[in-house]
Amino acid sequence: MLEVLNHPLITHKLTQMRKKETGTKDFRENLDEIAELMAYEVCRDLPTNEIKIETPMGACIGQELSKEVVIIPILRAGIGLLDGIRRLVPTAKVGFMGLYRDEETLEPHEYFVKFPKNLDEAIVLVVDPMLATGGSAVAALDSVKARGAKNIKLVCLVGVPEGVKAVQDAHPDVDIYLAAMDDHLNEIGYIVPGLGDAGDRIFGTK
Ligand code: PRP
Ligand code: URA
Repeated sequence: MLEVLNHPLITHKLTQMRKKETGTKDFRENLDEIAELMAYEVCRDLPTNEIKIETPMGACIGQELSKEVVIIPILRAGIGLLDGIRRLVPTAKVGFMGLYRDEETLEPHEYFVKFPKNLDEAIVLVVDPMLATGGSAVAALDSVKARGAKNIKLVCLVGVPEGVKAVQDAHPDVDIYLAAMDDHLNEIGYIVPGLGDAGDRIFGTK
């Protein structure tokens, strides 16, 4: 399943992020707000249990989330999506997946993994702003599955058809959510029009 959210509020904020004159503070704040809006849509089908409760007016049947949610940002840039999602799912646990993309080969390299226990029982949200060649997302999904995750959603800000295809070919069971589907990758593997290097823009490293 691929869902491109295309919501006017998300598109407006993403446009601010795309502008080359947008500085680190505004870039980060818009990403944070988009993450919260995306979380609302991504969590639309979270399973719930019925629970009997007492309101001040009497008894009724309510609903509570029945599965643990685990958010796994792909370092570094995925951290930019973490707080916005956690505001909506404050009970979520958090794992970290450190990957960097070799600038020459575009191959992902793993440098850090720290996941909570019981991934097999959880709804796992793997999050990263950029889905370019798809190499990093595929590697992250390989890694969470190797540690037991079964119910996984991939949440990215901007993707391209090449990256979506790579993920769908390798992990057809994973639902993909994008704020926007961009046009293509350029000759050095950057998304066009995209927003440049997400990690550098979030952390001010260029
Ligand atoms: C960026 C981005 C993704 C990856 C996408 O990270 O945040 O993780 O590239 O590219 P791909 O789909 O071709 O694998 P980068 O490797 O630049 O690391 P950073 O987040 O530390 O800047
Ligand atoms: N990583 C980024 O940060 N931006 C791109 O356009 C592609 C990969």
